[in-house]
Amino acid sequence: MSKLKGKKILLAVCGSIAAYKSAILVRLLVKEEAIVKIIMTKEAGKFISPLSLSTLSKNPVHSELTLDHDSLWNNHVELGLWADAMLVAPASANTIAKFANGICDNLLSAVYLSARCPVIISPAMDEDMWKHGSTKKNIEALKQNGNIVLNVAHGELASGLIGEGRMMEPENILDYLSKHFIQSDSLSGKRILITAGGTHEAIDPVRFIGNHSSGKMGFALAEQAAKHGALVTLIHSNTSAPVPSNIKKLISVQSADDMYSAVMRNSKSADVIIMAAAVADFKVKKISAQKIKKSENSLTLELEKTKDILAELGKRKTKNQFLVGFALETNDEETNALQKLKAKNLDLIVMNSMNEKGAGFGFDTNKVTIIQRGGKKILLPLKLKSEIAHEILEIIIEKIHA
Ligand code: CTP
Repeated sequence: MSKLKGKKILLAVCGSIAAYKSAILVRLLVKEEAIVKIIMTKEAGKFISPLSLSTLSKNPVHSELTLDHDSLWNNHVELGLWADAMLVAPASANTIAKFANGICDNLLSAVYLSARCPVIISPAMDEDMWKHGSTKKNIEALKQNGNIVLNVAHGELASGLIGEGRMMEPENILDYLSKHFIQSDSLSGKRILITAGGTHEAIDPVRFIGNHSSGKMGFALAEQAAKHGALVTLIHSNTSAPVPSNIKKLISVQSADDMYSAVMRNSKSADVIIMAAAVADFKVKKISAQKIKKSENSLTLELEKTKDILAELGKRKTKNQFLVGFALETNDEETNALQKLKAKNLDLIVMNSMNEKGAGFGFDTNKVTIIQRGGKKILLPLKLKSEIAHEILEIIIEKIHA
């Protein structure tokens, strides 16, 4: 059965010569029994007629924020909520710039801002525009906001030049969409517990010992897992990044002890557990009930070890549970990571290096090595944390379905 059968696709068409390919795309989607609704920008109407697209899709084409004849409001929120996926093909440099900067001056940009479904963008433009620094920046911003940006193809362009910038062929876009829906079901029904952020260990009512974790890596994993259809429980502590949407259960904690209790309460039923949080290894033995005064010249705090949550999960691990840890190392990275993998009874460990530019705490990018039980190792180049999350989940999916 087609993976697109019954899927609600909102196709947005921008002003580009590639707009003629939208007719083929709609035809292919309808053949696969997808339900297609279409938005066109005003400029798109100069390249392909709304009548062609409405006839092929068997649905009216939308282009104005108000409905043409009776001046009624065209409900962009409804359109954005209706779709299982929003596909922008062709996406012009102008629309990409609007999306990247939150500009909302037509129906398409309003729908984009209110869409909750995955947004897949297939750019089309001249090579110089594609390679311009502003476009590159905008594409990066779109990716960081969780959009999927498809590759452009190489070939003859509207300018007559040969180069990069052609819209991906409709057949390839269709392939991508089918894979996307296969993937979005790949963790369907699986319960995934993820921790994110850094714990705070109180010293007195106003002070704590903490770390620089922003929670971005754990959040990226939670967001991607939810996109793959998983039922995600996210336990987060002291994070500065925005909390992802689509999370089934969200628990906020402060200290390593709080995190230990929350994890143990929620771990039994989990199929996959990913400990991405930076949990403090030590806590203050005696927390002062009052603010500590600076009456003395020095202050000694006695610290004691916290419970190792991951090691405890490793002990309690059931036959069908898949356990993932992170390792942050500054020296003897691989030896230490492997040692943690074994000692904590993990199935997979993600090794972070503090020695790479653009990697580690607070960055949107990271450079990691993924090591599986048995020693299989994948070294990833510097990538967005969302991309790394995707790679980690791909391995987990393969393993739990094997
Ligand atoms: N971890 C945990 N509970 C702790 C400390 C760490 O669950 N009290 C988890 C982290 O979430 C991470 C993994 O253990 O997934 C490894 O954490 P890391 O700080 O790299 O190593 P530690 O085990 O704390 O060892 P060390 O600090 O000596 O390197």
